[in-house]
Amino acid sequence: MLKRVIPYAHELIQQVIQPGEIVIDATCGNGHDTVMLSQATGPNGVVYAFDIQAEAITNTKRLLEENQLNNVELIHDSHQYVDHYLDDRADQQLAGAIFNLGYLPGSDKTIITKPTSTISAIDKIACRLKVGGIIVCVVYYGHSGGQSEKEALLDHLKHYDQKQFNVLQYGFINQKNHPPFVLALEKKQAD
Ligand SMILES: C[S@@+](CC[C@H](N)C(=O)[O-])C[C@H]1O[C@@H](n2cnc3c(N)ncnc32)[C@H](O)[C@@H]1O
Repeated sequence: MLKRVIPYAHELIQQVIQPGEIVIDATCGNGHDTVMLSQATGPNGVVYAFDIQAEAITNTKRLLEENQLNNVELIHDSHQYVDHYLDDRADQQLAGAIFNLGYLPGSDKTIITKPTSTISAIDKIACRLKVGGIIVCVVYYGHSGGQSEKEALLDHLKHYDQKQFNVLQYGFINQKNHPPFVLALEKKQAD
């Protein structure tokens, strides 16, 4: 059976995370990916979870408490400033990052991820990723502003050096209503 998009995205990143490593949830939203990453890195790992909305930080904090997880640093800031928050340990142990593009489900649909900040964050994380690490983006683009973000991202990632990164697109091309798809960047060699 072909994997659905979200389980596939989770499987990709779970495969590369070793207990004790550092990972990033670039868009924590309601916290579902943060919980998955927190469980994958375990008590000696760290998850840096970003969101620009206070509501998202509150929702994620609540979900982490309900699941008794305490290895997450919640950061109420844009992921484009990711480098302000990572210390030197991240240069060897940054295993991966996940982005869910679009708006916070059940909230204000005008607060969305934007091409410039998304691309800036991906580039910064890609530089610091360990060899074998992965960045996974679940691209939702049916909302206003989504199509231009999708196009900008695809244009940008197409030009990543193939010696250094494998860049994958995975999605179902016969589904109606702008089905989300996965973009994944696997780091093959250091800069
Ligand atoms: C599709 S939702 C994320 C869903 C989340 N992964 C979950 O499991 O519930 C996208 C989130 O990205 C956030 N966001 C938008 N721009 C951002 C930025 N520049 N930096 C960090 N988060 C951002 C939104 O506030 C929203 O909560």
